[in-house]
Amino acid sequence: MSLPATLNVPRAKRLDLIPPYLFGEIARQKKQALAEGRDLIDLGIGDPDQPTPPEIIDALYEAAKDPETHRYDESNAGDPIFLDAAAKWFEGRFGVKLDPNSELLLLIGSKEGLAHLCWAYVDAGDYTLVQDPSYTVPKVNTLMAGGIPHLMPLTAANNWLPVLSDIPTEVAKAAKIMFLNYPHNPTGATATSAFFAEAVEFAKNYDILICQDCAYSEVNYDDYRAPSILQTPGAIDIAIETHSLSKTLNMTGWRVGFAAGNPDAIATLNKLKSNIDSKQFAAIDRAAAWALLNVNNDHTLELYQRRRDILVDGLNSLGWKLEKPKAAFYIWAPVPPGYTSMSFVSDLLSKAGVLAIPGVGYGENGEGYVRMSLTLSGDKNGERIAEAVERIRQNLTINW
Ligand SMILES: Cc1ncc(COP(=O)(O)O)c(C=O)c1O
Repeated sequence: MSLPATLNVPRAKRLDLIPPYLFGEIARQKKQALAEGRDLIDLGIGDPDQPTPPEIIDALYEAAKDPETHRYDESNAGDPIFLDAAAKWFEGRFGVKLDPNSELLLLIGSKEGLAHLCWAYVDAGDYTLVQDPSYTVPKVNTLMAGGIPHLMPLTAANNWLPVLSDIPTEVAKAAKIMFLNYPHNPTGATATSAFFAEAVEFAKNYDILICQDCAYSEVNYDDYRAPSILQTPGAIDIAIETHSLSKTLNMTGWRVGFAAGNPDAIATLNKLKSNIDSKQFAAIDRAAAWALLNVNNDHTLELYQRRRDILVDGLNSLGWKLEKPKAAFYIWAPVPPGYTSMSFVSDLLSKAGVLAIPGVGYGENGEGYVRMSLTLSGDKNGERIAEAVERIRQNLTINW
């Protein structure tokens, strides 16, 4: 069989602006280890390992039987059943009343909303303010839209919150969007109400839209409850928040979330989206609407919390000094002296058969750290996490 001819059509130059994939060597080592039949403990992927609760699947089946869901969803901003449920959920959870007709927008997952928000607001040369380290979608889409992502460094010294007074005035004046994400991937950091209030004040001073990514709002431990930025007085004037069922209810594959907040920003994002996508299969958002109001995921949260405790206590017994994160499902650990984040991940993989993500993959300020995810497939009750700690103990020499 002959290979197809090389396509002689140059791709759009914007695709060349996507930063290089940093994990090529790690991916190669992982592939090789698996080919050799080694037993890897994969703490790399941040994707709930537990299935979607079965009652949500039943709700999907019921919704799928209604032929109305088989057609284009011609609603403005999403099926009113979903938007009403999102408004009700938001009020119950955060005590914030939202108008489902103007302050909510159905998303095909929050990734889609974050990406399209850049395309809706960023012209060539515009700045966005992005956290570093961070989930890469806001930065990459700013670049593709011709904008300039200004990095807001996050450090342990400031509890992984940006120092807004460090943003140069000229950049703040030229910035369109400030992207925040709390609870935070990859550090597991949480924001205080005081920080949100400071961000709202800053954004109002410079006319910057805040987009706070709240994908991990429901992944909370002990008695912590993550706040919404929309609880901040005046935030609705300047902010939107993206929410997702992905991490909340083990529904990453379903692709459903919503944006909430400032009506102008919601309408602007909707204008862009309505010229690109036609929403998802309506049975998905009907099932999601039901799930938001009827299902809790405490069982999964208890499992993550058990794994968190085993991993943090275990690493601390090897000399780390980690605090237990209050939210999200990541352990963000400094690498021992003498290592870079890449070389430590490489040693973890080759010597201990444990896979983690080098912090530098989330931005230059992630150097010196690795991210370990608590969503470990095949782990029933923390036993594989305990084994990961044992393998590190036995196979790596760590000198603090
Ligand atoms: C910080 C953050 N935001 C957004 C997303 C995307 O979530 P969704 O499945 O809602 O698109 C992720 C997924 O890993 C994430 O870590």
